[in-house]
Amino acid sequence: MKSIRFVDGKLELLDQRKLPHQTVWIPCQDASDVAKAIRDMVVRGAPAIATAAAYGLALEARRARHLGDSDLEAHLGRALETLLQSRPTAVNLRWAMTRMEQALTAQRRGTSSIEDALLTEAKAIDSEDVATNQSIGRSGLSVFSGRTALRVLTHCNTGSLATSGYGTALGVIRSLYAGGQLQSVWVDETRPYLQGARLTAYELQEERIPYQLITDSTAAYVMQQGWVDAVIVGADRIARNGDTANKIGTYALAVLCTYHKVPFYVAAPWSTFDLGLNTGQDIPIESRSGEEVTTLGDTQLAPVGATALHVAFDVTPHELITGIITEHSVIVHPDTTSILAEAERHEEAFD
Ligand code: MRU
Repeated sequence: MKSIRFVDGKLELLDQRKLPHQTVWIPCQDASDVAKAIRDMVVRGAPAIATAAAYGLALEARRARHLGDSDLEAHLGRALETLLQSRPTAVNLRWAMTRMEQALTAQRRGTSSIEDALLTEAKAIDSEDVATNQSIGRSGLSVFSGRTALRVLTHCNTGSLATSGYGTALGVIRSLYAGGQLQSVWVDETRPYLQGARLTAYELQEERIPYQLITDSTAAYVMQQGWVDAVIVGADRIARNGDTANKIGTYALAVLCTYHKVPFYVAAPWSTFDLGLNTGQDIPIESRSGEEVTTLGDTQLAPVGATALHVAFDVTPHELITGIITEHSVIVHPDTTSILAEAERHEEAFD
């Protein structure tokens, strides 16, 4: 399952607002089309947003190829800013845009055109994400080695649709299932956008992985019954002390896990870490329209005129996180020391 396709020089995004009942691909011609698709939630999920934005910038270079190199660079700088502004919380978007800027800088020293250099980088971001997620899946297996018949609860959608493929938290779940260690998945419906009910349920069904959908408030009940062995969620941004921003409702799950002594894991690529932020308090949290809470599709749920608070993400304090599963390792009981030690290990690996 893919949510982003780039075929014969054309970018199309699967309209995730219409899933699971309609499969509609939206063509994007340039950066502003992609920025709009991100803002409107056609494409969502931190890694998928990053990949889509990278293609958006590459398309912009092609569309504006008539400009001379220096005008084109200035133009791309503005397009990049538009893409960066499309959604504030997921840091993967900034990470991808930084890579695209670096590709632009490297292009000045080489012979390829700006257009080719950016497209090559966008394709690399796309394909590397799939490989990264498969590695996250393998790291996840190490957490649960020797365990069988696991009942895992997850929140939002972190699967193929939210990434370039395979998924992060859902990738771990997929790996556990492939390894014969998974009994079933509790899928939080994830109000108000219903990424769990519409997208995760759809992906699991396609993969024939056993699951049961629950309302978000049922999570406490199933934990109280002893029916949950672990919670695994994704992330949109992780501060250097391990505080983690993810879909609204994640923090509540972590609190429940602490009370019920259920391990709480975050699965995310290294590109989700923002080491420039000391704590989660510095993570920008997206506010969305209250209408997404008071209505369901075209149906008005609350009384006409009702107002609603709609924050799209919350921050889980690192003390509540059992471990962060990355493509490189599992950071157990994450804090500033363990995360910076992990960062140092990467730098050494890249030297
Ligand atoms: O608002 P969304 O649907 O973009 O939120 C998505 C999430 O919160 C995911 O858990 C996160 O981006 C990780 S996706 C691999």
